[in-house]
Parts: sequence; C-alpha cells; structure tokens
Amino acid sequence: MATVVLDSINKVYDDGYHAIHDLSLEIKDQEFLVLVGPSGCGKSTALRMIAGLETISTGEMRIGDRLVNNIEPKDRDIAMVFQNYALYPHMSVYDNIGFALKLSKVPKQEIDKRVRRAAAILELEPYLQKKPGMLSGGQRQRVAMGRAIVRQPAAFLMDEPLSNLDAKLRVQMRAEIAALQRELAVTTVYVTHDQIEAMTMGDRVAVLKGGYLQQVDTPQKLYDCPDNVFVAAFIGSPSMNLYDASLTVDGKGGSVALGSQKVQIGPEAFAARPALKGYGGKRLIVGIRPEDFEDAKLDSASPADRRIRGSVTLIESLGVEILVHFAIDARTVDSGDPDAVEKNIMDGQANAVGRFNPRSTAKPKATIDITVATENMHFFDAETRQAIWS
Ligand SMILES: Nc1ncnc2c1ncn2[C@@H]1O[C@H](COP(=O)(O)OP(=O)(O)O)[C@@H](O)[C@H]1O
Ligand SMILES: [Mg+2]
Repeated sequence: MATVVLDSINKVYDDGYHAIHDLSLEIKDQEFLVLVGPSGCGKSTALRMIAGLETISTGEMRIGDRLVNNIEPKDRDIAMVFQNYALYPHMSVYDNIGFALKLSKVPKQEIDKRVRRAAAILELEPYLQKKPGMLSGGQRQRVAMGRAIVRQPAAFLMDEPLSNLDAKLRVQMRAEIAALQRELAVTTVYVTHDQIEAMTMGDRVAVLKGGYLQQVDTPQKLYDCPDNVFVAAFIGSPSMNLYDASLTVDGKGGSVALGSQKVQIGPEAFAARPALKGYGGKRLIVGIRPEDFEDAKLDSASPADRRIRGSVTLIESLGVEILVHFAIDARTVDSGDPDAVEKNIMDGQANAVGRFNPRSTAKPKATIDITVATENMHFFDAETRQAIWS
C-alpha cells in the first residue's frame, strides 16, 4: 500500500516566493495522478517536495503510512524520472539500469534478475550491452524508465519525462508509460504542462495555477464540469470559447445575450443548476466548447433561437473536422492562463472557434449562421469565476 498524501502543503522559497499554497492531494494506491498547469505554476516544486529534494515549509507529507517531511530522499522509497534523464554515456544500458541497485549494495544476482526483468518489460533486451549514444530517443527514455522500475519503489515521480522527445515519439511513449504504470501498478505522480498528455494518461488530473490547486478529478469530469474559468479554458484544445454575457430568465427557460445576439437556453439548464435563476438580469461568463458550434446549414433541425451569426476569418482543415474561426460582437474573457494567447486568438479578429463537420462550405470573409448546442453551455460567476451550480 503506497498512498501519497499532501496535507496543506506550503512552499515558501528562501527568497520569500510563495510557490505552493495549501496544497492538499490524496493520491491513491496504484493511482496514476497527473499534475498539470502552465509553466511556473509550481508543478516541479510540488513533485520535488514529494521526492524530498525540496524542503516543505508547512504541512504534512505522507508516503504510505509514514510522515516523510524529515526523511531523506533516498529513504523515501520513491523513484524519479526527469526530463533530462542523463544516462551515463560510458556505461552500457545494463549498467545504467542497474546502477542505483549497485550503489545500494544489492547482491549481483538480484541486480541481474531485476535488470533483465525490466529490460524484458521495456523491450530493451537486444540493447543491454549497447551504450546510450547508440540508442534512439525513445529507447533512451525507456532506459530511464528501467532505472526507476528496478528499484521497485513505493511510488514513481515523473517530471515532464517526454518533453525532450519529438511529437510522434511523445504520443507513442505516453501510451507506453501509461500501459507500463498499469502493469506495474505502482502509485505514480506525473508532471506535465501539456493538457493532452494529462488527459490521456491520468486516472485523475490535478490542475494547478499560480501555486493553487484548481480542481482534481477524472479527465472526463474536468472536461465536462470544469469548476472555474481557468480549468474550463486550460483543458481542451482548441480552448473553450468564453464570453462576457448576460442572462434573461423567461417562461421557457431563459436566454443568453452574447454581444448583440441572443440564444435560448432550455429549462433543463436551470434544473441542473439551481443557482442559475439568481443570475437573471445579471452579467455572467458563458462558455461554449468548439464542438458545440456547428454550421447551421448542416444542422437544419436546430431551432432558430439557438443560432448566432458570425463572420468567418480563418478555416483550418484537419481532415476529420474543420476549425472555423469567426467573429461575433461579444467580449471574450481572459482565462488567466499565461500560455493561452496563441491558443485561441489566431488573427486578432476572431473571438470564436468552432469545430465543424468538414462538409461545411463555410469560407473566409463569409457571414454564416452557426448553431449553438446551448444544452452544453457552461456558466460562471463573473466575479468569482467559479462555475454556477447550486
Ligand atoms: N529555488 C527557487 N527559489 C525561488 N523561486 C523558485 C525556486 N525554484 C522555483 N522557483 C519559482 O517557483 C515557481 C514555480 O516553479 P516550478 O515549480 O519550477 O514551476 P513548474 O514546474 O510548474 O514550471 C516559479 O515562479 C519559479 O520561478
Ligand atoms: Mg517544472
């Protein structure tokens, strides 16, 4: 049993910078938890505190049933895999994988057993006598994983282990690492700034911003029910469209004003969110995922009062779908993600992105009707930026 528990952890660096604020997280035995957030949000700091490479300012850290605040890294029974996995170039793959065991004076026979088993799992057997310089990037990354595996730790800690690999290899390795973790069933905390990596690998994902935990949940729950504007914009690509809007409550439910245009929302939106009625006549933030926009020409069954008009600025064809950037006269909302600028605003004009069916005939410079799946709309308080539910 190796749970990893962070209980109200704070980190204040020597220069006074408060990098982690009251972080509480409970990583279950055998769970794959991903810590994700923009660069500088404190992911590595948090991971290094679990590893014991960084002191904990206040709060309690437990691995298994043990309070580890004052336990040396080498005695915490964890294995870490970094971005710069720094293999020893003059040593064979075999010796690289077994090196930590040799240092810990594990008997030679036992080392041999564990190295060969790790090599078999990682499909590195043909390369055991080769030097790291002769391997591909993906193979080197597997050697780094091998070094962690042979230690049979209570937990794996991984800090952006794939960020030095090219895009294609990264996709392959993320599937391999996720499968390996499930096979070995070792509690894992994995750090990345890449939300797609987080979503595809994690049993649960913890989103961090500016040293504060925003939300921790399964990937699907984060996507479907983001707790606040930041998570809403951070999870998903292209990002959720977010607008300053106002709500009118009427007999049929209500309507949302996006700039000069209005779209109807049904009574079910209010039934699911008892607090929403209280926003009648008030400003709020409305979120629409790109897939909840569609070319009205392809969606003729959708009611006329759930459509908006937009002028198309740019079309990106992805084969399976097209991304249609368009402009409406509503004001967008800054999500608070420092890395988000190039994510959403492609040309300074468009403030909406839709994922349309590729059969759409929308063209740049045209003004088109767009349906809005208002049943999937997200609502946030304009002040607190928290999702409006109850
Ligand atoms: N030794 C340090 N002293 C002071 N500030 C630090 C130190 N290490 C990191 N920081 C700051 O703490 C914040 C979080 O850093 P880090 O945990 O490395 O972020 P991430 O891994 O999410 O990119 C950053 O603003 C960084 O500049
Ligand atoms: Mg980092």
